[in-house]
Amino acid sequence: MQRVYNFSAGPATLPLSVLERAQKELVCYDDWGMSVLEISHRDARYVKILEQAQQRLARLLNLPDDYDILFLQGGSRLQFSMVPMNLLTDAPAQYLVTGSWGKNALGEARRVGKAEVVWDGESDGFVRVPGEKEWELPPGSSYLHITSNETIQGVQFADFPKTGEVPLVCDASSDFLSRPIPVERFGLIYACAQKNAGPAGVTVVVLRRDLLERCRDELPGYLNYANHAKANSLWNTPCTFGIYVVGLVAEWLEETMGGLAEMERLNREKASMLYEVLDGSDGFYRGHAHPACRSQMNVTFRLPTEELEAQFVREAAERGLVGLKGHRSVGGIRASIYNAMPKEGVERLAAWMDDFRRQLG
Ligand SMILES: Cc1ncc(COP(=O)(O)O)c(C=O)c1O
Repeated sequence: MQRVYNFSAGPATLPLSVLERAQKELVCYDDWGMSVLEISHRDARYVKILEQAQQRLARLLNLPDDYDILFLQGGSRLQFSMVPMNLLTDAPAQYLVTGSWGKNALGEARRVGKAEVVWDGESDGFVRVPGEKEWELPPGSSYLHITSNETIQGVQFADFPKTGEVPLVCDASSDFLSRPIPVERFGLIYACAQKNAGPAGVTVVVLRRDLLERCRDELPGYLNYANHAKANSLWNTPCTFGIYVVGLVAEWLEETMGGLAEMERLNREKASMLYEVLDGSDGFYRGHAHPACRSQMNVTFRLPTEELEAQFVREAAERGLVGLKGHRSVGGIRASIYNAMPKEGVERLAAWMDDFRRQLG
């Protein structure tokens, strides 16, 4: 069977070597006589897999000692609720809204308590992140929430806001592990795994331990970060297989790709191949995001008509380039080029974009 190049926004392509390793180990892991799918999450042999995944992530992220890594379920959408449930103090939380996911996060926070907006890019169609001088953070706020990469619009923070004493909370679902980040500047980072870190079903939460003091006892048990931190993500049965695959992806990042700085270099190279085609197309392809805020993960653009967009997607699929249709809420084309998308896949797409334009022009 021939594998295609899968540009889907998530669940997304995984490194082939990770899939093959999981396949090889599926029926009998090591000398266990059973699968990772079958072993108890309390068995010391499984706990080792979970802890190794945490250790690899900690090394990749250069994690300071006062942070914990949790493996939760419920996707990033559950984090939209858990963050305010756990971190709201008497002061409102602040949201910097640069796309659809930030808007969703804000909506959920408002169901929980008081959440305000420091900046919202919706009126210009979510095409950029704001400059430092365009917004102000009220001192004493519970936290500031940002979305480091807006998966739908393809808008990414190149650098992160400075928030002083106010904890910075980041939805990093679609650019987690794609570049080195200064973890010490964040209070909490969350990312569903199904884009860059593994399969759907596990969500990674990185949090500064002192924030656990804010988690109120009255919260339902699963929704309280403190329970998961105390039990090292074994408070209930976690997504055992998902965590195992996250560990394999982290191993691939460390040992095959050479860590996050090297990964970022390759990701930039891949993204610039596509942006160069957009910029050199005499307006045939129109990129969505302002150039300075372009995502290195989700390249979003339009063609002159919706009919041409449909034809582009259909004929790309015939060439083994799939998952290119933009999100249903915005249309257009979206090429998601996460860590595991090989450079050859992006080269093939760039060549197809050139061919398609020439064929019509
Ligand atoms: C930036 C971002 N946040 C949140 C989500 C929602 O994640 P989940 O479907 O795991 O709840 C997504 C999913 O596409 C996303 O891209």
